[in-house]
Amino acid sequence: MKEIKSIEFKNEVLYLIDQRKLPNSYEIFECKTYRDVNFAIKEMVVRGAPAIGAAAAYGVVLAAKEFLKEDREIFFKKMEEALEVLINSRPTAVNLMWAVKRMKKVIEKNKELELIDIYQALKKEADSIYLEDIEINKKIAKFGNEVIKENAVILTHCNTGALATVGYGTALGVIREAHYSGKNIFVYADETRPRLQGSKLTAWELVQEGIPAKLIADSVAATLIRDGKIDVILVGADRIALNGDTANKIGTFMLSVIAKVYNVPFYVVAPTSTIDFEIESGKEIVIEERSPEEITHINGVRIAPEGIEVYNPAFDVTPHENITGIITEKGIIRPPFKENILKLRS
Ligand code: MRU
Repeated sequence: MKEIKSIEFKNEVLYLIDQRKLPNSYEIFECKTYRDVNFAIKEMVVRGAPAIGAAAAYGVVLAAKEFLKEDREIFFKKMEEALEVLINSRPTAVNLMWAVKRMKKVIEKNKELELIDIYQALKKEADSIYLEDIEINKKIAKFGNEVIKENAVILTHCNTGALATVGYGTALGVIREAHYSGKNIFVYADETRPRLQGSKLTAWELVQEGIPAKLIADSVAATLIRDGKIDVILVGADRIALNGDTANKIGTFMLSVIAKVYNVPFYVVAPTSTIDFEIESGKEIVIEERSPEEITHINGVRIAPEGIEVYNPAFDVTPHENITGIITEKGIIRPPFKENILKLRS
């Protein structure tokens, strides 16, 4: 297996694979300040819920480094501002809020220490978030592999691989695991309009690893499902409500409806850090709307007429009734989701 390092923190710099440039060029984007991290998340240099969370955690470390020279009072004030900027980089993926809140707790717990010790404690916490993510994904992959049969044909949407996480991936992690355990699987990857995470990123990861796959336009999925060509659908998640409703890349909901009509198992694959225990249902999830240019242009070339208005939500919510199970590092959660999700808390 080839190792893809989407994120690396070395010598006070956060190095990110610039996901805007793949697959045509492999470039590293350097973040030297928390503002660079905010930019990288906003502009999708780094994207995918767990990767955004880990990047933001290192953003907090960079902020602490920058403000170490300040007086204590100013340090805490500026850290407060930096946390606010980072937490607001994108609105939907809860892993971002989860990671920044985890970092905030470290500041609060160590408030009486020397600033340099607070910085060290923050660095340690960010490293934990980073390292835990890989371990968690490997556990998810093992549980997920249980639902994959020999010779399974798997459909996936968006990118949930090593690029979207610190390593290994969630839904794509399950696919990796099934492939390496010799199950002779085949993957259909949706190209995932408009940002094309499927064709630019998932297809790139599949090719890197030699996993047998075909790339399809999003609108092909319905025909494949109806024709009995898909055994199971695996998608990631950006936020999961207590009742199991799941926000994920736009187009996921549509897939789930077709899967339900044709009785194809539909699994959400995500770490428990993607569960928002504070919201009851998907109605409370803020859906990010991105710029019209993502729809009107491809690679900077206009493909829609000047003057047309655009609606461009980046995510949609799949209702829990359409979900067969949620594959996490703690096992597979099945309906009734609320009851079983709440058990995870204890
Ligand atoms: O807009 P993106 O590319 O950040 O959206 C990513 C997704 O929707 C992924 O499916 C989700 O974050 C899960 S990644 C393991």
